[in-house]
Amino acid sequence: MRRPFLAGNWKMNKTVPEAVALAKELVQAVANVADRDIVICPTFPCLAPVAEVVRGTNVKLGAQNMYFEDSGAYTGEISADMLISAGVEFVILGHSERREYFGETNQIVNKKLKKALEKGLGPIVCVGEKLVEREAGKAEAVVEDHVRGAFEGITASDALKVTIAYEPVWAIGTGKTATPDDANAMHAFIRTVLGSIYSADVAGKIRIQYGGSANDKNIDDLMKMPDIDGALVGGASLKADSFSRIVKFVS
Ligand code: 13P
Repeated sequence: MRRPFLAGNWKMNKTVPEAVALAKELVQAVANVADRDIVICPTFPCLAPVAEVVRGTNVKLGAQNMYFEDSGAYTGEISADMLISAGVEFVILGHSERREYFGETNQIVNKKLKKALEKGLGPIVCVGEKLVEREAGKAEAVVEDHVRGAFEGITASDALKVTIAYEPVWAIGTGKTATPDDANAMHAFIRTVLGSIYSADVAGKIRIQYGGSANDKNIDDLMKMPDIDGALVGGASLKADSFSRIVKFVS
């Protein structure tokens, strides 16, 4: 049984006071949820203040990115140790917005994944095709390339610590959700790919979140699908009422 994993990616939203206020509201709203993993991923300046709010609660802290070097002359970058020292336990890697706007390649994602695992952060690795790729019938090939690229050289025992987020780029921020059936089909395909890299046993244990216009209205139907283990939520994670309802999905 894979434990449900609901994560909020706040992207480039919320000042420090706003982030602290949202985290406080959310902590209260989900205080009685026990059987699910809940993670929020604010921006870097908000991590340490939000860590104070979520400490000792069932809400864990994630970052939206990190660099693969330990320290040094990498202006503007943030290391795994810095994140950990701020109270971070999870990190999103290879989000499509980082691939699209900041030139992140599979190779960079792979290096970041290795560093996150070495340091003990819980990685959430994003994969997903663009609309043109889906329309050209290449969705599975693109997603397979993202998965194989990210997991290159990662052992089975480390792979088990990774969560994959399947985020079709055409569904992000557009209001267009993949249908539960389409999303589930891709999740099942990702599991087949993981099975061929590792084993069916390992593939059956790795959690796969869906991301892309997931919200409080569609979460129940998404979570009914057998291969959907959670969600990586953008817009709908920016309000405590909608994200807490997502966390409390009924399947
Ligand atoms: P939206 O939920 O706003 O579509 O964003 C999804 C996403 O990119 C989460 O990482």
